[in-house]
Formats: sequence, structure tokens, C-alpha cells
Amino acid sequence: MSSTHKIAILYGSETGNSQDFATILSQKLQRLHFATTLLPLGEFNPNDILKVRYLFILVSTTGQGELPRNANETTTGSKKTLWSLLKKKNLPEGFLNHIQVAFFGLGDSSYPKFNFAVRKLYNRMVNQLGARELFDRLEADEQGMAGSNKGTGAGVEAVYFEYEKKIINFLREKFPMMKDSQGNRVERTEIDPSVYLKPKSYLKFAGVTTENTPVINFMGDESVKFGKIVANNKLTADDHFQDVRQLIFTNREESRREIDYNPGDTASIYPNNFDHDVDTFLNNQDQWLSIADKPLEFTNGVPDSLKCIGGIVQPLTLRNLLKYHIDIMSIPRTSFFMKIWQFATDVTRMERGQEQLDDQRDKLKEFGYDEDMQELFDYCNRPRRSVLEILDDFLSVRLPWQYCLDYLPLIKPRSYSISSGPSDPNIELTMAVVKYRTILRKVRKGVCTTYLSELPVGDTSLRYKIQNNNLIKKELHNHPMLLVSPGVGLAPLLSVIKTDNPVISKNIHLFFGCRFKDKDYLYGNKLEEWDAKGRIQLHPVFSRDRENSPDTKYVQDVLWKLGAEMTDLLANHEAVFFLCGTSGRMPLQVRLTVIEMLKKWGGFEDDEAAKDFLKEMEKDGRYIQETW
Ligand SMILES: Cc1cc2nc3c(=O)[nH]c(=O)nc-3n(C[C@H](O)[C@H](O)[C@H](O)COP(=O)(O)OP(=O)(O)OC[C@H]3O[C@@H](n4cnc5c(N)ncnc54)[C@H](O)[C@@H]3O)c2cc1C
Ligand SMILES: NC(=O)c1ccc[n+]([C@@H]2O[C@H](COP(=O)([O-])OP(=O)(O)OC[C@H]3O[C@@H](n4cnc5c(N)ncnc54)[C@H](OP(=O)(O)O)[C@@H]3O)[C@@H](O)[C@H]2O)c1
Ligand SMILES: Cc1cc2nc3c(=O)[nH]c(=O)nc-3n(C[C@H](O)[C@H](O)[C@H](O)COP(=O)(O)O)c2cc1C
Repeated sequence: MSSTHKIAILYGSETGNSQDFATILSQKLQRLHFATTLLPLGEFNPNDILKVRYLFILVSTTGQGELPRNANETTTGSKKTLWSLLKKKNLPEGFLNHIQVAFFGLGDSSYPKFNFAVRKLYNRMVNQLGARELFDRLEADEQGMAGSNKGTGAGVEAVYFEYEKKIINFLREKFPMMKDSQGNRVERTEIDPSVYLKPKSYLKFAGVTTENTPVINFMGDESVKFGKIVANNKLTADDHFQDVRQLIFTNREESRREIDYNPGDTASIYPNNFDHDVDTFLNNQDQWLSIADKPLEFTNGVPDSLKCIGGIVQPLTLRNLLKYHIDIMSIPRTSFFMKIWQFATDVTRMERGQEQLDDQRDKLKEFGYDEDMQELFDYCNRPRRSVLEILDDFLSVRLPWQYCLDYLPLIKPRSYSISSGPSDPNIELTMAVVKYRTILRKVRKGVCTTYLSELPVGDTSLRYKIQNNNLIKKELHNHPMLLVSPGVGLAPLLSVIKTDNPVISKNIHLFFGCRFKDKDYLYGNKLEEWDAKGRIQLHPVFSRDRENSPDTKYVQDVLWKLGAEMTDLLANHEAVFFLCGTSGRMPLQVRLTVIEMLKKWGGFEDDEAAKDFLKEMEKDGRYIQETW
């Protein structure tokens, strides 16, 4: 089993969940001496599909039931991918019948198109192109009881472990023998988990010195731009618990014309860590201190896993990697523990000596390998412990810097809906600063929103990339629009309203929900001005403000109150319904309300008929749900 691509593990992942599972699978197979190719679907050379015999696909669903971006395109934005090849109409029916395939889908059943991405791939590859399934497709659900283990979130892992087990059993049975280093056929064994599997390319000293204060730059992703902050305004009242910001920036280097966008498009923001957190890390791993600013290079080129980070920082030093690329503030996933437990080796930092060191090694290993995720969940996810805090708890861990980009999580860009109109000279975001207390009463802050909230006007270091999402189809412009947003969901809807050259629709109803009229009524004056001028028909609702919202609490209550008129627009005037805000219960309840409206006022006789109508709306791009 030495030929490359014979076993391929391909993933599609927007925020890293499926990628992490794919990485774990690849590690487990490598330990069994199976050579694997591990890549995002979009990076896999389409021609190599002919060499693949066993294909393991792990894919999340994103957007409106779509494949993640790294499955649909290469990092450089090219659409010449395996998926684009497979979609070609002229492929013969048996094109993939040389392949045995197993699918793992990851989704969230609060979205109407649950696990659509994996179903699309399955349908094309198995039903139409003849790939043979090793076992039935597995679909994990972040919300549902089946996939979420009664809300602990651990159940998604349970579905993954079932997938992994089936693959390993199959491959072990099929290939019980392997070749040893002398080329003899021997029984397949497992590499001891205490042996660290080195990545193909890792860091080494570059042997050159840097200038004293070198300029920070990023190499490898031209589409990431630098922004200059024009405004960073707090939109909520000072005594309100939530800090929501209007962040305005402009392109630092080019004219605004170079960066076209439409309503529904997003800006990916590449945040960085604060210097004091980097210092805390370096003090914990003090063996890194003396070399933190030494220039480094890769032994074997830039690893594929680094393609998602928006270009690699220059000068390449440990300090810069910790500041710009390594997510030391994140809550680590299972693969982190799987990889770092071997590095629990420093007995000198253990008050209770070897016994304590052994305890720490065992605990970290258990977190990495135990299929019952409850302990990891209780230690890590529930109190939301960061990498930095974990290293502080497990002082026996001495991390080797050479492989740090392999075992430490990487900072992923965060998406923000663009709030400005396409012809605005600047790019405007509306973002809620994430700050909350854990069950241990510890204050936690979101990585990206904390970073953004502290950027001063005039700062030119913001890194961003515009992502075109094509949310509202051109042919639906001029249709009536029902824009529905509790809270910060208002962000992309503002862009719809601001689109004025020409206006996107002359019949816009905006349902906006917040808590108090005088605290978090985001852009309240502007919304009322637009309403007064007839640009929109505004329907605000205040969930904790009885005086201003005596008989309604949430956006769905107002929709219901105006049910006859709104249903007429949806059922008889091809209105677009655009819902945006936090994921979870809200989108489900709004959807149920629309179904009830269709039944009561739209002439749909039962749930089935109303649901079918909604499905048709989705197919036509008239029911848009952007929730996060
Ligand atoms: C397509 C899209 C568009 C988006 N548009 C916007 C937008 O316009 N405006 C906007 O503000 N955001 C938007 N987001 C969300 C945004 O991308 C980030 O996820 C968000 O800002 C948090 O980033 P962060 O780095 O500050 O937090 P992180 O460091 O990533 O932490 C966030 C995590 O903290 C945890 N968390 C947060 N609050 C709590 C709580 N109260 N209790 C327990 N745990 C909690 C959750 O696990 C959450 O996943 C959008 C997301 C997507 C996918
Ligand atoms: N899972 C998460 O991580 C998570 C979930 C929610 C929010 N947040 C955080 O909250 C911030 C975003 O806040 P936001 O103000 O934009 O949104 P929000 O917290 O969802 O609240 C906006 C409005 O929606 C109302 N609401 C609550 N449940 C609803 C439901 N089922 N149906 C309809 N409306 C409902 C709220 O009312 P009441 O509060 O009065 O009920 C409030 O008036 C971010 O910082 C985000 O990180 C995080
Ligand atoms: C903007 C957005 C859109 C989503 N759309 C869908 C969807 O249409 N169907 C679905 O099943 N899950 C959807 N999800 C849920 C994701 O699939 C789920 O959160 C998954 O764990 C993400 O995995 P990843 O980290 O590999 O990207 C969506 C999530 C986000 C943030």
C-alpha cells in the first residue's frame, strides 16, 4: 500500500470540524502503515482520481446547503477541482467504479438543507458515476439529539468514531499483511501511539539573520488585502451587556473599485493574538524563548495544511507564528490531545515527580483517544479552556518547536457579512463583540471580535478577503423582500437596503428584533429615516421592552401579526424571504411560523403542502437563511 493517492482522505470544511476528523483518520491509518493522501477536496488534483482505490470523504455543509469553499475551489480561487470535474455532464456512467468510497457528512438540522453537501457528493459519485459504497453514508448533526448526545455536542464525535471504526476494520481485513523495512511481508502492526508521526515538512533554522525591526508581511495568498480603519463605533448603549460595533475600513493599497461585492457577500477577517498572550505562551514553553525571533524555514516547502491561513507571515519566526497563525486562545479539538500527549516529558516541573508526570501523560492521552468524550467535554469544552490554559494545567508538556504547525491549532479567518452597499466607498461590518462567562465564572472573549474591537482609527494592519456568495440571485431583484433579523443578523440586510444604483427592490419589509429600544436598537435612527422616506417598511420588535413592544416579543410574532399581507407577498408575489441572525432555535421557529402562515392565509391545506412550497422557494433562491 505504498503508492500515493491509493487511499485518499478528502475533506470539505469551513471552520475546521471536518478537517479535524479527517486529520484524525489519516493519523490512525498512518499508524497502521497505510499511506494516505490527506487534502481538502478543492486541493486534490482531479487527474489523480484515476489512481484512487479507497476514498474517504468527510464534508460539512455550509451556506445555503453548499459545499465548503475549500471543497469547491483551490486556495488561489481556481474552480478547476475534482468536484468541477465530477459535475461534467459527459462523464461515462462507470467513471468511478474503480473506487470504493465512504462518506461522512457534518451538518446542523436547524438549517433547511441538512447535510446537503455530502448528499450531493454521494448522489453524483455513487448513484451516477458508479463509485461503490463501503458502507452506508453517515451523517452527523450538531443540533439533533441523535448527533449531539443530548446537547453535549459529543455525539458528533460518536458518529465520526463509527465511521472510523468501519474504515479501519475494512482496511485491516482487506490488507492484513504489510511490508517491513526489509521488504518482507509481515502481519500488519500498529505504530506505538507514543511515537510522534513527523509531518512531511516542518520548521528548521534558516541560517540567516533578520533586520532589527522587519516589516510584517504575508506571502502566498494575493487575495488577502490590508485594510485601513476608518471608524470603530459602539452601537449599543454603554449600560447594555452587549457591545455591538460598526467597523468601517477601506483598502489600504488599492482604490475601492478593485473590490466589488454584493449584498450577502462577506469579508473574511484574519485576526491575530495579543502580544501579552504570546508572551504567556513563551514563558510557559521557556525553551522557545531564546530562539523566538530567529528566522526559520520549512524542511520541505509550505505544508498543505497552511493554505487556509491567508499567506504565511514574514519574517518566519516562532514569535510571529504565535502572534499571527497559531490559535493559542482557541478551545482545542481532539487531534490536539492525540498529538501532544507524547510531549508530557518534563518531570522537573512536577511537584509530585514521576507519578504526577505519568498522571498527566495518561490524562492527555485519554483526551486524545477515549471514545467517551465526556471527560474531555467537561474539562475542555464546557469551561471553554484555551490551549494556553491547558498548557498551564499540564506543565509536564514541553513542546518541540519544529512541529508546532502540525500539533497546534491554526487561526482560521472569521466571516462577517458586509453591511455597506455595493457603491459605498468603504467596507462596513456590524459585529457583536463576543464576551461571556463560563460555568466556572471565567470571562471569555472571542478571538476575532476582541481583536477587531481594539483596532484604532487609522490602523492599517487589518487583513481581510472579500468572499462573493451570490446570495440574492440577480433575477430576484425587484421582487418584494421580507428581510428578517433578530440582533446582529441585521448586518447583511443593511447592504440590501443600501443597494441604490439601482435599488434592489422597491418593496422591502424589514423585521428587526432586539431587546430594548434605547439600548440595542442597532442603527435605529437610520432605520426609521428609511421607513419615513418609504425606502423600507420597518417592523421593529423589542423582546425585553414591554413599553415599546406591548404585545409582541420576537420577529416571528410580528410576522404572524402581519400574516395575511406577508403571506400574500410570499405566496402570490414571489417575494424573497431573507432571514439572518444566530443559529439554533430562532431560524427553526421563524420557519415554523412561515409554515403556519402559509396554511392560515396562503391556501395551503396542510404541513406537507406548506413545506413543499418552502422547499420550492429555497430551490428558487427565494428563502435565504444566513445564520451562524
Ligand atoms: C457567513 C457568516 C456571516 C457572519 N456575519 C457576522 C456578522 O455580520 N456579524 C457578527 O458579529 N458575526 C458574524 N458572523 C460570526 C463571526 O464569523 C464569528 O463567528 C463571531 O464574530 C465570533 O468570532 P470570535 O473570533 O470573536 O469568537 P471565537 O473566539 O471564535 O469564539 C466564538 C465561540 O465562543 C462560544 N460562545 C460565544 N458566546 C458564547 C456564550 N454566550 N456562551 C458560551 N459560549 C459562547 C461559541 O462556541 C462560539 O462558537 C458570521 C459568521 C458566518 C459564518
Ligand atoms: N451559540 C452561541 O454561541 C450564541 C448564541 C446566541 C448569541 N450568541 C452571541 O450573541 C451575540 C449576537 O447577539 P444578537 O443580539 O445579535 O442575537 P441574539 O442574542 O440572538 O438576540 C437578538 C434578539 O433575538 C431575540 N431572540 C432570542 N431567541 C429568539 C428566538 N428563538 N426567536 C426569535 N428571536 C429570538 C433576543 O431576545 P431575548 O434575548 O430577549 O430572548 C433578542 O431580542 C454574539 O455575541 C454571539 O456570540 C452566541
Ligand atoms: C453560515 C453557515 C451555514 C450553514 N449551512 C448549513 C446547511 O445548509 N446545512 C447543514 O446541514 N449545516 C449547515 N451549517 C452547519 C455546519 O455544517 C456545521 O456547523 C459544521 O459543524 C461545520 O463544520 P466545519 O467546521 O467542518 O465547517 C452551516 C453553518 C454555518 C456557519
